[in-house]
Amino acid sequence: MNARLIKNGIYAVGVQDWSRRLFDSLIPLPDGTSYNSYLIRGSEKTALIDTVDPAFWDEFWQNLQDLPRLDYIISLHSEQDHSGSIPMLLERFPEAVIICSPKAKDLLGDHLLLPPAKLRAVADSETISLGDKSLRFIHTPWVHWPETMVAYLKEEKILFSCDFLGSHSASSDLYDNDDPAVLEAAKRYYAEIMMPFRTQIRSNLKKVREVDFDLVAPSHGPIWNHPEKILAAYEGWVSDKVQNKVVIPFISMHGSTAKMVDYLSKELIRQGVKVELFDLAVTDIGKLAMALVDAATIVIGSPTVHVGPHPGVASAAILANAIKPKARYAALIGSYGWATKVVENTLALLPNLKAEILGSVICKGEAKEPAKQELKALAELIAAKHKELN
Ligand code: FEO
Repeated sequence: MNARLIKNGIYAVGVQDWSRRLFDSLIPLPDGTSYNSYLIRGSEKTALIDTVDPAFWDEFWQNLQDLPRLDYIISLHSEQDHSGSIPMLLERFPEAVIICSPKAKDLLGDHLLLPPAKLRAVADSETISLGDKSLRFIHTPWVHWPETMVAYLKEEKILFSCDFLGSHSASSDLYDNDDPAVLEAAKRYYAEIMMPFRTQIRSNLKKVREVDFDLVAPSHGPIWNHPEKILAAYEGWVSDKVQNKVVIPFISMHGSTAKMVDYLSKELIRQGVKVELFDLAVTDIGKLAMALVDAATIVIGSPTVHVGPHPGVASAAILANAIKPKARYAALIGSYGWATKVVENTLALLPNLKAEILGSVICKGEAKEPAKQELKALAELIAAKHKELN
C-alpha cells in the first residue's frame, strides 16, 4: 500500500494534483492542490475519511488495493473533489457503510446516485467505535456546503476537517512545518471558498476550539502540525476587524481611468492609507480575493462600455458580491466617452456588499481639475472614515 503513516494505524492515502490550475473553472490554483484521504485502522474496524477527485481514481486505488476490508467510508463533504470516488470504492468494498451528516444523505444521493440503504447519517457529536479508536462527528455547516462536518479522533488527537482550514497546494510535505507559504495558501483558500460563510465559520471555530487536538488534517493541503497558527489566522479573518487599507480593482481602456486611479492612490498614500491596486485586465483574481479579506474600503475603477461598467469590472463585481468581503466603505471612479450609467449599473451588481457608499467620481474623458478635487476629497473622506474605525 502506497500510504504515508501519520500516527499509529493512521495513514494519508490521498493524491497530489500538481497540474491543476483552475478550480470550479473559476478559481486560480497557482500551486495545484491535493485531495487528501485518510485511512484509520482500528482494532476492530477500518474507516476511510473522504476520497479523491474521480480523475485520480487509479492512483488512489493504488494506495488502497492491499486493504482487505473497509467498514466505513466517512464522507465529511459531498462535493465531488472529495466524494467523487465513493461509487468506485463501493464497488471494491461492497460491505462498507457510508457515514455522512443528515443533509449529506440527499446530496450524496443527488450527486453520485448512491443508494440510500448504503448511507448512514450521524447526529452532531455522535461517535462510532473502531475498537481501540473512535470517531466523533461534529456538524460544521457551511464549511463549505450546508452538510459539512468534521471528525475527531480522540485517541490520537486528530481533527479531520475536510475543506475547513484547508489550502489549495500540492506538496510532498505531509505537514505544514510552520511554512509561511502554507498559511498564505490557506488565506487564499479562505478568501475564495470560505469568506461568504464568515458568520457560520465563527461559530464552527468555537465548536472545534472545545476539542483537544494536536493535528488538523484537512482534505486539501498539508496537515497542520502547528494548528494554533491556522486557528488564530481564521479567527482574525472572520472577525469584524478591518485594516487601514483600500483595495482598488480597476480596468482602463485608453488610460483615463488609470490616471484617476493613480491620482486617488497617491492622495490616499499621502493621507496614510495603504492601497492595493489590481488591474483586472491582468490580475490573478485569487490575489484580489485575498486583499479583500481585511480591507476597510473598496474603490472600483471602471471606464464606461455602452453606458455600463467594463465587462471585466462587472465580472469582478459579481465575484466580490459572491464572496461577501467585510469592507465597511465603497466608492466608484472612472471616465466615460459620451454618456454613462456606470454607477447605478455597477452598484446593482453588489447587493451583498454591506458597505457604506462614500460616493463616486465619474468624469467625461480626461480627469480635469474639478474631478481631481473630487478625488482628493474622496481620499480625505476615506482616511477620516478609517481613523474613526481605529
Ligand atoms: Fe474541496 Fe467544497 O470541496
